[in-house]
Amino acid sequence: MEREPIGVVGVGWVGLVTAACFAELGHEVWARDIVPEKVDALGRGDVPIHEPGLPELVRKNAERLHFTIDMGDVLDRAELLFVCVDTPPTYSGDADLSRVDAVLGELGDSDKHALVMKSTVPVGTGRSIRRRRDGIGYVANPEFLKEGSAVEDFMHPDRVVVGAEDGSAGYADRVEALYSPLGAEVVRTDVASAEMIKLASNAFLATKISFINEIANVSEELGADVREVARGMGLDDRIGPKFLQAGVGFGGSCFPKDVQALKQLAGNSGYHFQLLTAVVEVNELQKRRTIGKLQKHLGSLAGKEIALLGVAFKPNTDDVREATSLVLAGRLAGEGANVRAYDPVAGSKATDMLAGARIVESALEAVDGADAVVLVTEWQEFRELDWTGQVKSRMRMPLVVDGRNFLDREALVGAGFTYEGIGR
Ligand code: UDX
Repeated sequence: MEREPIGVVGVGWVGLVTAACFAELGHEVWARDIVPEKVDALGRGDVPIHEPGLPELVRKNAERLHFTIDMGDVLDRAELLFVCVDTPPTYSGDADLSRVDAVLGELGDSDKHALVMKSTVPVGTGRSIRRRRDGIGYVANPEFLKEGSAVEDFMHPDRVVVGAEDGSAGYADRVEALYSPLGAEVVRTDVASAEMIKLASNAFLATKISFINEIANVSEELGADVREVARGMGLDDRIGPKFLQAGVGFGGSCFPKDVQALKQLAGNSGYHFQLLTAVVEVNELQKRRTIGKLQKHLGSLAGKEIALLGVAFKPNTDDVREATSLVLAGRLAGEGANVRAYDPVAGSKATDMLAGARIVESALEAVDGADAVVLVTEWQEFRELDWTGQVKSRMRMPLVVDGRNFLDREALVGAGFTYEGIGR
C-alpha cells in the first residue's frame, strides 16, 4: 500500500476519527486545530469526546499522529488536506462556510495542495471554491459516520464517495487509494453529485424516521402496533428494516441540520421541497407529543415531578445537539413541571442547556418521588434498572412514557405501571 502523508484540518469529531483511522491504516497524519488546549490534550493522548474505540486508537497510533495549531506544519508535510471543520447553520438555515473559507485563505495560492472536503457543505460549494481559486485541487469526500460507531463506520463503510472534476482526477485517485484497504465500493462521481449524495442520504434517512413516526401516531389511534408494522415493512427488500424505529424524534448534529440545509438550498434555487418541510414539522411535533401523553394521565403538569431518563440525542454518545430532551425540558418547564434529568455520560454537558431541569447523578435519584418517568434515550443501563422493585417503590405514581419502545411493557404493566409507548 502507498503511504501518503495526510493533513487533517479541524480536529472535531469527524476530524479526529479521520486522523486516527488513517494513522491506523499506516499513514503519517498532521492534524491541525485552532484551539490550543485541544491540541495539547490530544498530544498527551487525552480524547475530549465520547466515542467508543477512539481513545485507544489515538494512543495506539500516537507515533504517526501529530497534532498542531500551526497550519504551516500541515502544509509543509501533506498535499492532501482533509477539511473537517464544522459548517453550522446560520439564522437563515444556510450552512455557515466561514471556517471553510478560512482554510482556503490559509492555503494562499499554493498549487501543490488539494482540499478534500469531508465537511458537509451545500451542493455547489466545490464549484464556487474552484471558481474563486482557479486551478486548486478539489475532491469531495463526504463522511457518513454515525456517532457511537464512527471508528467502526470509518473502517467498514457501506460506500466511499469520491467526487472530482477532470483537473483533480489525480488527487481523486490518491484519495481513492487511501480507502482501498477497506474494500468498500467506491462511488466515483462529479463534485456536485458527491455533495448531493451526502445531503440526500441524510434527508432520506430523516424522512424514513418521520414516516414511521407518523405511522406510529396513526397506529395509536387505530389499534396497530408500530413495531409489528415496521417488522413487516422492513422485510421488503426495497424498504429494509433499518431506521424504522418510531420514537420521540430524531436529533443530533447531522439530520436536523442537513435536512434544513437541503430544504434551504432547494429554496434558494427556486424549488420548494415540500416533503422535507413536512419531515421537519413532523419531527418537531413528535418531540412534543410526550407532553400530551403525560397530561392524559396527570392532568395539569404544574408542580408535577417528571424524571427524564436520557439527555443525549441517542445512546453511546455525550452529544446533546438537537436532542429531544432539550425540547422536552423546555416544554415541561413551560407547563410548570419540576424536571430532573439523568444521563450516563451527557449530564454534565447539558447542565446549562436543559431549561429549568435539575441534572442528577443516577437514574434512581431521578425517579425518586416522580409522578412520571419519560425514557428519552435508549441507554442499555435503563433497561437493566430494577423497574418492578426499586424504581416502582421510589415513584409517587408508577407512570412510564417509553419514548423509544425500549422497555418490557408486559413486565411493567404486570407490576402495576401505567405504560405509554410510541405507536402501540
Ligand atoms: C447520522 C447519519 O446516520 C450519518 O450517516 C451521518 O454522517 C450523520 O448523521 P448520527 O447523527 O450519529 O448519524 O445518528 P443516527 O444513529 O443516524 O441517529 C440520528 C437520530 O435519529 C437519533 O436521534 C436517533 O435516535 C434517531 N433515530 C434513528 C430514530 O428515531 N429512529 C430510527 O429508526 C433511527
